[in-house]
Amino acid sequence: MIEVQNVTKRYGDLTAIERVTFSVNKGEVLAFLGPNGAGKTTTMRILTCFMPATEGVARVAGFDCFEQPLEVKRRIGYLPETPPLYHELTVREYLTFVGRLKGLSAENLRSGLDRVVERLSLGEVRHRLIGNLSRGFQQRVGLAQALLHNPPVLILDEPTVGLDPKQIIEIRELIKSLAGSHTVILSTHILPEATAVCQRVVIINAGRIVAMDRPDRLSARLRRSEKISVTVKAPPAGLAERFRALPGVQSVFEPTDTGAFLLECELGRDLRDEIARFVVGNGWGLLELKTIPMTLEDVFLRLTQHEDITAGEGEEARTPSKEQARA
Ligand SMILES: Nc1ncnc2c1ncn2[C@@H]1O[C@H](COP(=O)(O)OP(=O)(O)OP(=O)(O)O)[C@@H](O)[C@H]1O
Ligand SMILES: [Mg+2]
Repeated sequence: MIEVQNVTKRYGDLTAIERVTFSVNKGEVLAFLGPNGAGKTTTMRILTCFMPATEGVARVAGFDCFEQPLEVKRRIGYLPETPPLYHELTVREYLTFVGRLKGLSAENLRSGLDRVVERLSLGEVRHRLIGNLSRGFQQRVGLAQALLHNPPVLILDEPTVGLDPKQIIEIRELIKSLAGSHTVILSTHILPEATAVCQRVVIINAGRIVAMDRPDRLSARLRRSEKISVTVKAPPAGLAERFRALPGVQSVFEPTDTGAFLLECELGRDLRDEIARFVVGNGWGLLELKTIPMTLEDVFLRLTQHEDITAGEGEEARTPSKEQARA
């Protein structure tokens, strides 16, 4: 449904994105994850025909974003970083205006309005001036304008920014409910958001894609050891050394104030049973034993702090360059 091939965008001397390539299938929800300045908004602006790429090709539903912008725009709902709102209009006036701009018939406009007002819980504010609404409500109005003509493709630039926790959950639910019937790209810095609503994540850093996979596979691919946390009631002196001597244990971190030992074990080896028997058998008292999964947060930091370790299956992360280390 969406195809981006070797797209590069330069602003004068600055290369904002470089040879970005990815595609999104029909009905898929894809997260664009990256730190500030990574190039998320730039990519979205190219896809929504807001500006042309310097090089490369972007297509939506088979239409070229540069050659056939009208066809592309007709099929896209776009929520820009700063929603294009008119503060002196009421919510209803504004959405009516947007609907007319999009060329909706009176009947489609009416049903579209009812649908978005309900889906985004805008009923109570629909006669209020947009300029007087809170940030979160303005964001919802921005989302409403993107959804108004029920487009098959949605490009949402940080859709949950400025919302309260309850609204964040509601908007995520809304996005999830669009999956299957709509193709969605959303950008975010919020990692749980990517895991919560997306089937696939593209991690972009400094204008380049550094990883692209399902959230669970991303963390699995980058994991280099299993981590187990063990809390012992009466640890004898030198227990860390004794843990380290167990087969399969690679390193042990001494307890901090939590009293938990952190054991790094060989990948693919579950040593929980052995460790439990070792502690209990020696009568030291086992208070807690658990594996520590690698979160998407760890993956993200590892990918965006180290030089490209993209597709390289099982490749070790390299030492960060001085510049990246400073960042
Ligand atoms: N109009 C512009 N003129 C010059 N440089 C720009 C312009 N727009 C963006 N850039 C630069 O391009 C790079 C990518 O910016 P972009 O806005 O795409 O990042 P982003 O991933 O959306 O970041 P954020 O998370 O902060 O929204 C940045 O270095 C930015 O300064
Ligand atoms: Mg941005």
